[in-house]
Amino acid sequence: MTKTVLITGASTGIGRSTALLFAKKGWTVIATMRSPEKADWITKNIHPLQLDVTDLESIQTAIAQSFSKFGTIDVLVNNAGYALMGAFENCSPEQIRKQFDTNVFGLMEVTRAVLPHFRERRSGVIINIASIGGKMAFPIYSLYHATKWAVEGFSDGLQYELEPFNIRVKLIEPGPIKTDFYDRSPDIAKSDITAYDEFVDRILPKMSRAGEQGAPPEDVAATIYKAAIDSSSRLRYPSDRLARIFLTLRKVLPDSAFSTIIRSTMVR
Ligand SMILES: NC(=O)c1ccc[n+]([C@@H]2O[C@H](COP(=O)([O-])OP(=O)(O)OC[C@H]3O[C@@H](n4cnc5c(N)ncnc54)[C@H](OP(=O)(O)O)[C@@H]3O)[C@@H](O)[C@H]2O)c1
Repeated sequence: MTKTVLITGASTGIGRSTALLFAKKGWTVIATMRSPEKADWITKNIHPLQLDVTDLESIQTAIAQSFSKFGTIDVLVNNAGYALMGAFENCSPEQIRKQFDTNVFGLMEVTRAVLPHFRERRSGVIINIASIGGKMAFPIYSLYHATKWAVEGFSDGLQYELEPFNIRVKLIEPGPIKTDFYDRSPDIAKSDITAYDEFVDRILPKMSRAGEQGAPPEDVAATIYKAAIDSSSRLRYPSDRLARIFLTLRKVLPDSAFSTIIRSTMVR
């Protein structure tokens, strides 16, 4: 029987590549996004649907429409997200709330909306797109890291309570990926405080360069597909070469040695 995947933030980047890959594999793809009317790349098996993860009503409507149209969802990919970049003191409380509303509370609410169906069917896979930035931190991304660390902790804990219902939780951990993440999508903090300007101006180009040299989103899509069909209880899936290198270094090095690498490569 054809399987169905619902993806959030499918308009560009990792979400779009994932939609195209699952469709190619013969899945029914519910590609949710904030502005489905702009999606001009849709192929066979892909069904665009409006869903803003910060809007509870839009989540509930999209999930209800998905079940009534397709009968079931087998896999949920919580992909929607962006980075709030800059010094913490320059971020407004509204910017910080929006960052958590999107990357953390949005992901939780979409998960909450599918769980009754997954529990009833006693099957389902929830794939959360975290980041290597949920295990380590880089300068000018403190708020983004806070959200991805939250996604890591949430998913790690959630897996145990969902196991009895045969619902698997998966975490995808990408390194730098060449998408809109570094140019179109970020929310860049600005305020009257100028004390951090020199620091931020020094780091920003380095982060953009990391993105330009990043792995293609297709690498992450392939990892998401692997996680979707993996019936084991494995939780974490690094998605690309740099992610594997960074995660290994973070695991084996003491905090002080890892921070020294970050200081010497990114701060100075
Ligand atoms: N690129 C990287 O280096 C990297 C590394 C690790 C993890 N990630 C994670 O991968 C995920 C996808 O990012 P990407 O690299 O593919 O960047 P991207 O091309 O900027 O895609 C982000 C997607 O999230 C959507 N989005 C943002 N806010 C939303 C909301 N409120 N409701 C619904 N959709 C929303 C965007 O929609 P619009 O088109 O409407 O803006 C877009 O489709 C994110 O969770 C990101 O944190 C990325």
